[in-house]
Amino acid sequence: MSERRGEGDRATVIEAEGLKTHFQARSGIISALVGQKPKVARALDGVDVTIREREVVGLVGESGCGKSTLGMSLVRMYQPTGGRVRYRGEDITRAEGRALKDYRRQAQIIFQDPYSSLNPRLTIGQIIEEPLIIHRIGNAAERRERVARAMNLVRIPPAENVDRYPSDLSGGQRQRIAIARALVLEPKFIVADEPVSMLDVSIQASVLELIDELSRELGLAVLYISHDIATVGYICDHVAVMYLGRIVEEGPAEEILAEPLHPYTERLIAAIPRMDPAEAPERHELTGDVPSPLNVPPGCRFSSRCPFVAPLCEAVEPELSDQPGGRRVRCHIHDDGAARLRPDLARPVAGRVTHDEDVGILADAAS
Ligand SMILES: Nc1ncnc2c1ncn2[C@@H]1O[C@H](COP(=O)(O)OP(=O)(O)O)[C@@H](O)[C@H]1O
Ligand SMILES: [Mg+2]
Repeated sequence: MSERRGEGDRATVIEAEGLKTHFQARSGIISALVGQKPKVARALDGVDVTIREREVVGLVGESGCGKSTLGMSLVRMYQPTGGRVRYRGEDITRAEGRALKDYRRQAQIIFQDPYSSLNPRLTIGQIIEEPLIIHRIGNAAERRERVARAMNLVRIPPAENVDRYPSDLSGGQRQRIAIARALVLEPKFIVADEPVSMLDVSIQASVLELIDELSRELGLAVLYISHDIATVGYICDHVAVMYLGRIVEEGPAEEILAEPLHPYTERLIAAIPRMDPAEAPERHELTGDVPSPLNVPPGCRFSSRCPFVAPLCEAVEPELSDQPGGRRVRCHIHDDGAARLRPDLARPVAGRVTHDEDVGILADAAS
């Protein structure tokens, strides 16, 4: 776990507000003929996130919940369809031409697969130099110098390695090269999209530690994306949990891992394998899949899988409400204000597993 870094004087690097990226699904020929509107996948559906200098924010959630869409939208590889992204105070949501190219130099993304992301026909030196050529930075000597610096940053000695090929390297070394390629442009913001999930478990921690160190050394703002909530404890200051295109819980990493508030977060944590079964919390299985963003359910998006579901949950989507300790959660259990507002809806559902104390809040409000 990294040392908590003082927040006071750190400048905000990236800030999203109500960010949405909806995709138009291709409509079939029949529906086009009968004039049906094409379906819309609400992959990212109103997300706020702020990342400061030297800060690593973790974004977790199951596969398909919209994490990559958020990452791609923040670095403007996707065009958001709503909301706003500010980079160091400047609105870049709809930047194009020169301004977009400049922004893309400052904001880099590292992908999951270090086997397919590096061109096998180029040497390590050429792979890292390529972005400099694309952005027309420096002459040959200056570029060589920058490549060597980037390789030193990722702890791969340049002298022995510039002329090698990706196939000469291990998975962990390749991911370090992918990181060097992103760093060579001297960005201020990095999205690391599942950077260790294809690597051997034994080397995952060292790559995560590297990302953490780089964030501090270079003052980088980092969005670390993972479907595995167990890995966020290594490097993240702050964690956001995503479900079906929205943040359902966020706050300081340590607190969330120790005491999750949202039933979804609780289940993600309960699913982490333990060495000692006696240490494992009471097991709550997370069954079924994330619903399709083509058919977002009414009310709470997690209601179809939540063991605490009450009629209120199926009718009214909870707000992301402030909790003690700088935490926020989107759940009626923790939002008794909403239960009071609609007491008619607040009745526990028969036949579901319920948590007496939590449902008590809803039931009290109903009486
Ligand atoms: N380019 C796209 N066009 C249409 N749907 C997409 C596109 N990219 C992602 N989606 C859909 O958006 C949802 C979120 O995807 P994604 O952001 O990749 O999730 P995650 O990274 O959390 O696994 C998925 O249902 C996916 O099918
Ligand atoms: Mg993804």
